Amino acid sequence: MNILARRSLLLLASSAAFGAAVAAPAAPLVMGFSQVGAESEWRSANTASIKAAAKQDGVTLKFADAQQKQENQVKAIRSFIAQKVDVIAFSPVVESGWDTVLREAKAAKIPVILTDRAVNVSDPSLFVSFIGSDFVEEGRKAGRWLLERAAKNPGADLNIVELQGTVGSAPALDRKKGFEEVIAGNPKLKISRSQSGDFTRAKGKEVMEAFLKAKDKKIDVLYAHNDDMAIGAIQAIEEAGLKPGKDILIISIDGVKGAFEAMLAGKLNVTVECNPLLGPQLMQLAREVVAGKTVAKRITTLEGVFPAEVAAKELPNRRY
Ligand code: AHR
Repeated sequence: MNILARRSLLLLASSAAFGAAVAAPAAPLVMGFSQVGAESEWRSANTASIKAAAKQDGVTLKFADAQQKQENQVKAIRSFIAQKVDVIAFSPVVESGWDTVLREAKAAKIPVILTDRAVNVSDPSLFVSFIGSDFVEEGRKAGRWLLERAAKNPGADLNIVELQGTVGSAPALDRKKGFEEVIAGNPKLKISRSQSGDFTRAKGKEVMEAFLKAKDKKIDVLYAHNDDMAIGAIQAIEEAGLKPGKDILIISIDGVKGAFEAMLAGKLNVTVECNPLLGPQLMQLAREVVAGKTVAKRITTLEGVFPAEVAAKELPNRRY
């Protein structure tokens, strides 16, 4: 036994003999996390990031998948309250309808962190912080790309169809708002049809099929609120005998690997980045919140825009 080991043993023995408190190892922080679902490549990357960060950080994670249903999220949050977790984090499927359950969490003195999506509540003290993207800005970036593209062909009117995300969700509301705000500057850009594809490939394909079948107006541009719906729509466009990315310009949001592959194949024109890798920041924030530190109410993630021209160079750098 070396000197240091013997010294620790002696110290332990003497503190026990004098009745001194021997510091117990700190209990791991317990986080209840309610995830929206598994609707997209983005969501899978987000879930993987949160699980990996919790493991790496020694956080005990109670994870619940809500399968895109608000009632499942409310049940999960109530169960986290009953289990007396240290902190609750969740990515709300829709913006409204959270006041009651968040008041219950507040009454139980359990801090709540929002990740990825915002809520619309009457009392902002019902959550301590919100980490996530600026979805309005993402919509603006998509709109600005189209404005620049349209400027190269100034004569033509462009008929746009829009695949919205989940009805009532923050990204669907905000991405629509940001895009519309920017294209309003050009009277030649008009959205003729807009419907929800629920952020999934299957629904994106189904709704795009319906848009194409209507045949009342040639479709020039598709604006999809996420890459998965764009990828589903690409299939529908090809099945209709058209060339996605050429006959119809396609703009989407997220920046998942599948979008880069579609851009390399010439089928998608641009993707606006939405970063799902929020796990490490969330764990650090949770520790600060539980330690009683004052944290920023809003933490926005930094993101870029990737047109097809840079897809080959960027694909090897993509982490999701
Ligand atoms: O809330 C983020 C959005 O949710 C992503 O853009 C979309 O792919 C996901 O389903």
